Amino acid sequence: MRHVLAVFELSTPEIERIFELSRDLKAKLARGIREPLLPGRVVALLFDKPSLRTRVSFEAAIIHLGGGSMFLGTDVGFGQRESVADFARVLSEYVDAIVVRTYKHQTVLDLAEHSTCSVINGLTDLSHPCQALADLYTLQERYGKLAGGKLVWVGDGNNVARSLATGAARLGMKFVAAIPPGYEFDAAFLARIKTQVPGADVTVVHDPFEAVRGAMSIYTDVWTSMGQEAEREQREQDFAAYQVNAKLMAAAPKDACFMHCLPACRGQEVTDEVIDGPQSVVVAQAGNRLHVQKGILAWLLGPSNGAKN
Ligand code: CP
Ligand code: NVA
Repeated sequence: MRHVLAVFELSTPEIERIFELSRDLKAKLARGIREPLLPGRVVALLFDKPSLRTRVSFEAAIIHLGGGSMFLGTDVGFGQRESVADFARVLSEYVDAIVVRTYKHQTVLDLAEHSTCSVINGLTDLSHPCQALADLYTLQERYGKLAGGKLVWVGDGNNVARSLATGAARLGMKFVAAIPPGYEFDAAFLARIKTQVPGADVTVVHDPFEAVRGAMSIYTDVWTSMGQEAEREQREQDFAAYQVNAKLMAAAPKDACFMHCLPACRGQEVTDEVIDGPQSVVVAQAGNRLHVQKGILAWLLGPSNGAKN
């Protein structure tokens, strides 16, 4: 049985297989075919934080695949009424997969350790693997070949940035992040990428204009992630020079696309002109969350990964 807790755990062939399944299911959906690859399978969504894309794309994905979902908000008392181990063991009796969105990454690791069904990370403080997979899928769909391409991150060295850097490295892309001092990737993460992804080309700089030269894509995210609200004012000051605006886009190649995981704080990390402009692919990117969640579920719950029968 496999989990999807971080991009690190997926090999390059496994990512490519997920993309292949996603592509096939997307093409079939465009022809009106919703292939029931997972009849009767049940996915529980255990969310401690708000979500539009992750929640709805997973729920729609499992319905398209012939199964069903249940959304578990805070009323099930995850982390409150009983130990994470007891919660995991019992929930696993009822469902085939748990998509979990919470604060600490360690909570997801603990949940997976005690679950007897697959656990999928739907965002933690450390990573957002399903987002990164959909983003890289979007780039592959748009440009064909990813290897050798340069993916540029502008902003916080956060959960999305880490997952994207790892996925980009797995697929042979160069990843350059322009991050303000104090918000860079930690040394342990950089060391892990170097040891676990041979040939990884991940660089952190402080100048966004230097970073975007030769970019295939320019990606940003909010300056203040969920759970960091108390730091908002400080962050607005620290990130002020890291806005993706028309001037920054003009320093990148004309065919570079603009990406954002959404939701966006328009006027902060990105201007309306850029996010609504011709280079922006944010809606297609969000749309692909559905197709890639289907690829992830089909890969994870299909017969080859030892999922429940
Ligand atoms: N990008 C993303 O994960 O969006 P939600 O927070 O709406 O799920
Ligand atoms: N970095 C953001 C991503 C939201 C999808 C957060 O964690 O809030």
